[in-house]
Amino acid sequence: MQFFETSRQIQAACREVRREGRTLGFVPTMGALHEGHLSLVRIARSQCDTVAVSIFVNPLQFGPAEDFSRYPRTFDEDCRKLVAEGVELLFAPGTEEMYPTGACTTVYVEGLSEKLDGKSRPGHFRGVSTVVAKLFEIVHPDRAFFGQKDAAQVAVLRKMVSDLNMDVEIVVCPIVREADGLAMSSRNRYLSPEERRHALVLYRTLSCVRDLVSRGERDASKVIATAAEVIANEPGVRLDYFAIVNPDTLDPVSDVSQAALVAVAAWVGNTRLIDNLLLPANS
Ligand code: PAF
Repeated sequence: MQFFETSRQIQAACREVRREGRTLGFVPTMGALHEGHLSLVRIARSQCDTVAVSIFVNPLQFGPAEDFSRYPRTFDEDCRKLVAEGVELLFAPGTEEMYPTGACTTVYVEGLSEKLDGKSRPGHFRGVSTVVAKLFEIVHPDRAFFGQKDAAQVAVLRKMVSDLNMDVEIVVCPIVREADGLAMSSRNRYLSPEERRHALVLYRTLSCVRDLVSRGERDASKVIATAAEVIANEPGVRLDYFAIVNPDTLDPVSDVSQAALVAVAAWVGNTRLIDNLLLPANS
């Protein structure tokens, strides 16, 4: 695996990949890699000739009271995992490389950036779209791979790519779960064993929603009320949002006969976790 710290270096390596006529898949990450990330790498590997990964804990997407400084950084372990997956190119820039002193240009997807996680985390999606736009500009991948777990991020980035005519295909990959249903997340490592047990309420609630809908419930407000009650009964868990929305616009839907994203965010102790379920039309 070739490792690059500067955009100039990786830009040259990616240019060479394209010159050789090879397709380039790209998996942007913030490191602390788990099976969810590795599944993105494997899907990228199956669809592209060369795979590039970035590791950058992006300060711009963290609010002042959020976990930027304590976000897990496990670089050596991450490298070992990426080597084992046969990743060819790794870009791990420092903050000054990505945001040189004086940099003042950001990318902002108006409207979508204020919904779901964007509402609870002001400025978060400006940080995400800015860093991903910069990474796309540096790597110029044919395809970029993101997890469905970050459903609102996916909606924001798809809109960015479409609005800015970016020549990259966004590939969205299924949520990877632990055996008991907990969605994999780098933040799961913050959880105490007890909190981890409480965190299972997210998956339990989504499973309950899937059952309700498969038994014929179509009224989103009734589904939301049931889900909110399940979460309210779980000790140590504070609901941030539970929403049923259009997966592209993130606007609420009232009837789940149409394709819908059921999204939840909750605080388990001091850790904010998210999860979701995609309901196909007429499910
Ligand atoms: O999903 C993430 O890990 C991050 O938001 C991303 C896309 C790597 C941007 O920093």
